[in-house]
Order: sequence, then C-alpha cells, then structure tokens
Amino acid sequence: MVIRKRLFARLYPGLSARHEALVAERKRALFRRAFAEVRPRRVLEIGPGPGTNLAYLPPGVAYLALEPNPFFHPRLREEARKRGLALTLLPGRAEAIPLPGESVDLVVGTLVLCSVADPEKALEEVYRVLRPGGAYLFLEHVAAPKRTPLRFLQEAATPLFTFFGDGCHPNRETLALIRARFSRVEAEAFALPLPVVAPHVAGLAFKE
Ligand SMILES: C[S@@+](CC[C@H](N)C(=O)[O-])C[C@H]1O[C@@H](n2cnc3c(N)ncnc32)[C@H](O)[C@@H]1O
Repeated sequence: MVIRKRLFARLYPGLSARHEALVAERKRALFRRAFAEVRPRRVLEIGPGPGTNLAYLPPGVAYLALEPNPFFHPRLREEARKRGLALTLLPGRAEAIPLPGESVDLVVGTLVLCSVADPEKALEEVYRVLRPGGAYLFLEHVAAPKRTPLRFLQEAATPLFTFFGDGCHPNRETLALIRARFSRVEAEAFALPLPVVAPHVAGLAFKE
C-alpha cells in the first residue's frame, strides 16, 4: 500500500501532463469565473496531488490543502513556495475535513471524487465548510451513460484502475452526486480524447 502510494506520487506528474494540457484552457476560464464571482480569500483544495492547480491561483490567497498521500507533500510545498502561495497542509481526508463549518470561500477538487472512498460524504463535507455564497470548483472524469460500450469497458476496467490508480473509479456518476448536494450547479459535460476516462464534467456548485 505504501509502495503503491509512493509510486503513484512519483509517476503522477508525468502521467497527468497530457490530461492537464487538454483541460488547461477550461480550467483557466473556470478559475477566472470563480474568482470573479466569489472573490475568495481562503481556498481549500481537496486532493491537490503535486499541486497541479496552483498555476491557476493568484498569489495572496490563503491556500489550504488536504492531501492524504504524504509522498505528494514535498512537491506540493515546493510548488507553493515557487508561486508565492501561503500553504497550510491539513491532515485527514475529504470525508472528514478538519475545518469548522462555513470557514472557506472556495473549495477546489479536480480528479478527486473518482478516488475518494465515499464521494457523498466528501461532498457533504465540502458543502459544510463552504460559507454561504461560496463555491466548489470541480473537474472530474465520470461514467459514460449506462448500457453503452464505453460504460461496460469502464465497469470492467474499474478493479485495474482502483489498484494501479490509487483508488480511481472510472465508473462514477459524479455530476448526479454534486447535484444531489448543491442546489445551484453550473456544469459542462465534455469528452477528452483519452481511453476509458473520456467523459468529463467541470463547473461550479454554489452554496446559497
Ligand atoms: C488523480 S489525483 C488528482 C490530483 C490533482 N487534484 C490533479 O488534478 O492533478 C487524486 C488525488 O486525490 C487524493 N485523494 C485520494 N483519496 C482522497 C481523500 N479521501 N481525500 C482527499 N484526497 C484524496 C490522492 O491522494 C491524489 O492526490
């Protein structure tokens, strides 16, 4: 388990580079929109990994990061230092965020709800820590529609993805879970030219 975590943290930046290039423009627009609407000062990221999203944060925000894989921490710290972001690393998991209710302005989570053990509980926690008027910025790969060939492939590939991809599930209907927790969700569905994990959603969910 520890070896797999260490290996995942080591290989992830290289493996995710293509994905990041494919979504960078979309992310830039999404972060711009979130910053314009919410004007966040305290930003929490769940599962930031090596700090993929720090490139989209302006210097000056208080950046809280909840990353349970310790092998990502050195790279995350280095990224934050290079970008002049004040980083606070939080212990724990998204299913039990160690922060008081209504204490952050923006929660960021990209490619995370596929990996958490309990996505409903994680979303409950995201909702709890957001202040009213705050937003959750998400970008996730999701399940293909039921009874399609891609969905069959995703179901078949899930055990492999979970084992080698640090708990990743390609077959989660994540947007439905987000809509079940937040009453105002602005989301876009899109497909990337990737095998198995092509279908994606991205957007903002607001706490009213
Ligand atoms: C596929 S990586 C995504 C990293 C980064 N967010 C990105 O977009 O490149 C999934 C991340 O979620 C983290 N993670 C897994 N389970 C988690 C949980 N229960 N709570 C918070 N983070 C979790 C992993 O450690 C890893 O950093």
